[in-house]
Amino acid sequence: MPLIQWKESYSLKNTVLDTQHKRLFKILNKLYEDFMHGITDLAYESALDNIIAFTKYHFQTEEQIMHKIKHPHSYSHKQEHNRFSDKIHELKNSPGRDTHEKANELIKFLVNWVLHHIVVEDRKIAHH
Ligand SMILES: [Fe+2]
Ligand SMILES: [Fe+2]
Repeated sequence: MPLIQWKESYSLKNTVLDTQHKRLFKILNKLYEDFMHGITDLAYESALDNIIAFTKYHFQTEEQIMHKIKHPHSYSHKQEHNRFSDKIHELKNSPGRDTHEKANELIKFLVNWVLHHIVVEDRKIAHH
């Protein structure tokens, strides 16, 4: 069972953004699958690097769109992206602790963030 499943109601009616959001779901479900099977340090590190690289790319896409359509909440939206990146980097740099515990924290953070951000914040881009 995947951790989170894409629903049509998540769609922003924007193919580029929907495709990228679905990719985020995939990355998160893969991390969860690894977690359930006893995640290795290597798999955890590579999931984090994947998330960092992909969200950097995804946030740039959204920020360019918001800039183009002169979206009124682009500043606060960008701040949410920055807070996400700060948290992920903080997790990446947090020393010690066991990988299972760190992966658990990462997954919880991602599920809450991804669902809230896509459903509430990103929706404002599409419905502007
Ligand atoms: Fe997004
Ligand atoms: Fe966003």
